[in-house]
Amino acid sequence: MVLLPSSNRKIYAECHERNEKVSLKGKNAVVVGGTGGIGLAIAARLASLGANIVIVGRNEGVAASIAPQPGATKTFIRCDVSLQANIRLSAAEIQAVPSIASSGIDCLVLVCGKTMNERVLTSEGRETFMAITFWARMLFTQILLPEVAKGDGVVMNVHGGGQDAKDMKPIDVNDFDLKNISFSFLNAARFSRIATDGMFQEFAARNAVSNVRFIHAFPGMVKTAGYNDCPLTIRSVIYILGPLMWTASASESADVMVDVMLKPRPTEGSTFEVWNNLGKEGAAAGWVRTDPNASKSVYDAAAKIANF
Ligand SMILES: NC(=O)c1ccc[n+]([C@@H]2O[C@H](COP(=O)([O-])OP(=O)(O)OC[C@H]3O[C@@H](n4cnc5c(N)ncnc54)[C@H](OP(=O)(O)O)[C@@H]3O)[C@@H](O)[C@H]2O)c1
Repeated sequence: MVLLPSSNRKIYAECHERNEKVSLKGKNAVVVGGTGGIGLAIAARLASLGANIVIVGRNEGVAASIAPQPGATKTFIRCDVSLQANIRLSAAEIQAVPSIASSGIDCLVLVCGKTMNERVLTSEGRETFMAITFWARMLFTQILLPEVAKGDGVVMNVHGGGQDAKDMKPIDVNDFDLKNISFSFLNAARFSRIATDGMFQEFAARNAVSNVRFIHAFPGMVKTAGYNDCPLTIRSVIYILGPLMWTASASESADVMVDVMLKPRPTEGSTFEVWNNLGKEGAAAGWVRTDPNASKSVYDAAAKIANF
């Protein structure tokens, strides 16, 4: 159950209505993390509007539930995005999808996430939460940027844009594997959100002439299976307060995120945009920008590690 102020409901309904009027026929959308939670709802929404959809994830059975519109295509690309070697292979598969090879990617949606309560390393030696929520977003974006620039030029991160901007403390860019923080889901998420803000702000600065909108959005508290892996204390709070806490269902959140993706480009050239769960742009929501020097240091340190 989701109890919501009627003003929120009105906003979701307006986003839904605006989206209903749009045809994405002939557009190419890629959703990384599109087989569960908010990602599944976004993939389904984009497909329902007529887009050719590429779903990147681990669960082909779930992807099978998404129905493309007549004349549109659907492609499932199996990828465990915690491993950078897999991402490089999958990105090449995405580039080879015929509609993308001919007309690029109109929207690249990065919505992969995983609740981690302890520090676990991947077989490549990266901390797993950061591998899924930060490195996967960064690498897919870096590799697929030419295709995105050829299409309508939207890169949408659904994660936690602007959440930390008001009391921003720079993160330690020598600690992407979270050795030196006191590891908890909340601390890891904070580190990853700040790194993602910095990374994509710097992507926009570096690709100023490419007309790409680099978006980092916060979806609000959306009831998804992701919360099932939270520690017992957090799950207990959610069990008791859940109906009051959820700000949207996954499909309502997807309508807001799709509405944001379809907004007109704010200016010529690349932009970094932070949006909240009610479809409010960062500045309007009172958020401040990451210090450009901090963004640059996140990008430089990460690019060195990822070797690009
Ligand atoms: N829900 C919220 O209230 C909320 C609030 C703030 C921010 N967010 C952020 O929004 C994003 C999506 O959240 P959500 O609630 O939709 O999460 P979710 O229900 O846990 O879904 C996460 C998605 O990521 C995929 N994924 C996880 N590990 C993967 C891996 N190794 N390889 C490939 N795909 C993988 C999952 O696929 P599988 O089905 O294969 O696991 C699923 O499609 C996350 O970044 C989260 O931090 C969510």
